[in-house]
Amino acid sequence: MAVIENSKLAIIGAGSVGASLAYAALIRSSARTIALYDVDTRKVDAEVLDLAHGTQFTGHSRIIGGDDVSVLAGAHVVVITAGAKQRPGQTRLDLAASNVALLERILPAAIEQAPDAVFILVTNPCDVLTVVARRISGLPAERVFASGTVLDTSRLRWLLAEAAGVATSSVHAYIVGEHGDSEFPLWSTARIGATPLTEWRVEDRIVFSPGRLDEITDQVKNAAYRVIEGKGATNYAIGLSAARIVEAILRDENTILPVSSVLDGFHGIDGVALSIPSIVGAGGVGPVLDVATTPEEERLLHSSAEAISASDRSLGF
Ligand code: 2OP
Repeated sequence: MAVIENSKLAIIGAGSVGASLAYAALIRSSARTIALYDVDTRKVDAEVLDLAHGTQFTGHSRIIGGDDVSVLAGAHVVVITAGAKQRPGQTRLDLAASNVALLERILPAAIEQAPDAVFILVTNPCDVLTVVARRISGLPAERVFASGTVLDTSRLRWLLAEAAGVATSSVHAYIVGEHGDSEFPLWSTARIGATPLTEWRVEDRIVFSPGRLDEITDQVKNAAYRVIEGKGATNYAIGLSAARIVEAILRDENTILPVSSVLDGFHGIDGVALSIPSIVGAGGVGPVLDVATTPEEERLLHSSAEAISASDRSLGF
């Protein structure tokens, strides 16, 4: 595999998440062509025009789009953002039934247009929809996965970086499990630079006491609820997270990201999609990396898998 020339990113759904992903991808030059598709003609045309009007100030990406599914043709990566979104008080799992129906409609048509693409689910509940998408498509697991806890991990790293007084890029910590209420941080392997998180000191004081770590965990888990309460949806950070995953594929980076893929015997978990740090490159998601866990982290992992699996089962998957 190699860096893809003339790369094409296709985005399904021109709502706030799809449009923010297109904006992030344009600004970051994530792909040579960015195609936005939506059944709402006026909305998609308006978003494409608004984005195109700014391309004097972006890199070498161009934006196209419309309400005809053929705009997806030949895409190397297809990101699915369309679907019902959380209303205040709803969990991500509450969206499952309506978004499964949407996926059943849209995915076969998208595969027809872009048969060799890597498909990334951003629509929630993204872990559940990944299993559904694999069943519908029959595509190999490495080519169908979800953005998972890439966003939650970014939220975690920002909070830790602020508290530690270092750059976000110097924080090495992951949120794993469901992209939802049962997710959790892998504290036992978290580091700032090369220093174990729990040994990090500012003015000779330990910063991350057990109580502080619990608070940060709650802040990450409730981050989306808080943003949704305030402005009705989350869009910028998920747009950036998805653009980052797309780049890892189109540039064949083999970057380690906690995307959500269908597990096959990982720590005894089978047939459920959840996030574990994994290698992402041109072929999609590669090997899930083994992680050293404490007994408590292992318990949380299995309970998160069970929460997602219960939702899969309730939908007949
Ligand atoms: C988020 O975490 C709602 O899943 C979306 O921002």
